[in-house]
Formats: sequence, C-alpha cells, structure tokens
Amino acid sequence: MSQIDVPLVRGGFGQTQRADNWWFQPLVVFLGLSTFIVYSTWAALQGNHFTYGPYLSPFYSPILFGPEHQAWFGVSPTWIPAWVTGAMLILWAPGGFRFTCYYYRGAYYKSFWADPPSCTVGEPRKTYLGERTFPLIIQNIHRYFLYLALIFLVILARDVWDALWFNGHFGIGVGTLVLLANLVLLSSYTFGCHSLRHIVGGFRDRLAGAPVRKRAYDCVSCLNRRHMLFAWCSLFTVGFSDLYIRMCSMGIWTDWRIL
Ligand code: FES
Repeated sequence: MSQIDVPLVRGGFGQTQRADNWWFQPLVVFLGLSTFIVYSTWAALQGNHFTYGPYLSPFYSPILFGPEHQAWFGVSPTWIPAWVTGAMLILWAPGGFRFTCYYYRGAYYKSFWADPPSCTVGEPRKTYLGERTFPLIIQNIHRYFLYLALIFLVILARDVWDALWFNGHFGIGVGTLVLLANLVLLSSYTFGCHSLRHIVGGFRDRLAGAPVRKRAYDCVSCLNRRHMLFAWCSLFTVGFSDLYIRMCSMGIWTDWRIL
C-alpha cells in the first residue's frame, strides 16, 4: 500500500501549536500502565500466595493444573516446566484483550511509542502506515480476545460465588467485596467493548424493527461512552484483587469478616 506523508513531521518531533499541557495525559498513561505491567509480571512469576480462604486471585483464575482442589485438569503434567506458573498459562487471554483494546491502543501508541505523542503534536517519523499493515493489522484479533474475555467473566463470577462460602458457611469478607467490585468493573469494561457494540448491532444499516438488538446496542453504547473510565478502574481492581489476596495469604493484611 502507499505510504501517507505526515505534514506534522515537518514541524519536528514534539513541536505543536498547542498551549496546554498535552504531555500530561500520555505521561500518566505511561506511569499507570508501566506500574501495572511490572506488578502483574512479578505476581505472575511468583506462583504462590494466590489463594486465601475462599478467595482466588483473578491473575490465577481459572487454576488449570495444580494440587488445589479447584484445578480443572488435576496435577500438572510433566511436560510443563516447573517454573511455568498458573498465571502464565492463562494471562495471555485477558492480557491480549487489553493490549488490542481500541482505547488502550490509542493510549499506548501515544504514551509508549509517541505515535504521535498527542493529537496535533509532531511525531518522530516520516510516514504513517496506520493499522492496515503488518504488524499492527494483527490488532484486528481483538474480537476473538473478546470472546475469551466473556468466558473469563463467567469464571470470575464463579469465583465471587465461591468467595461467599467460608468452610461451607455463607459469609462476606472484605475480600468478597474486592472480588465483586472487580467483577462489576471488568464486566462494565468488557460489555462496553467497541467490538461487542459492532457485534450486537453495529453492522446493520437499520436497527428499527429489531427491538432486542436495539436495546442491546443502546446498553453497550452506554457503557462504551465510559470505556476509558472502566478500562482504568478495572485495571486497578484486577491488580488490587491479586495484591489483597497476596497480602492476606502472607499474613500482612487481615481479611475482616462483615458477615
Ligand atoms: Fe476496549 Fe474492546 S475496545 S475492550
């Protein structure tokens, strides 16, 4: 395909006529995403302290192999190296969902790749290829990560249910509420996905005459308008859920029982 000349580059990298602090938002995004990536990578490499009582960290859910009684496929087969943790086996799915998210793409293209650093700010290259060529055309896989993310929501809902049962007795702990808040925010993020919006009605020329589809489209659109907010809130709660359970498991924090 032909390359497109970018007029902004003639102004030079970082040059702009904007008078506001345009660099502030990309900087906050860079720091926020970097913090999450560093913590989640560290937590995924640990392979321990991911359960406490009835709680299971979302980084390690579902447990595919292991001694835990919830393990889907029993003990780990010998062909999986000992250093491979449960989180490593599953995190590629929710990680891929976020990495290919339309919102995050716009955010990290600016903050990590300076492509461009911000709207109407000069970027450090001469051409613009968009997402229609390799490798960024792979971002179109987002729809398929959405299908996996929807399955993960069901699994996390089951984890919230399990977090209501302490040694067979119904109860609510702070950890239960943490996992519930994470589920609600992750659902708000996932059900506001641009790809889901397209699937439930975006590809039709007319929604008139399809009331159920119209209702679904409106619901997704409503969440979609706050997609950035839910992206960040759910990123925080998924990381905090792991941290909370890890701290309780290590005996550093106390899980207070409410009921
Ligand atoms: Fe953000 Fe799909 S566009 S989750």
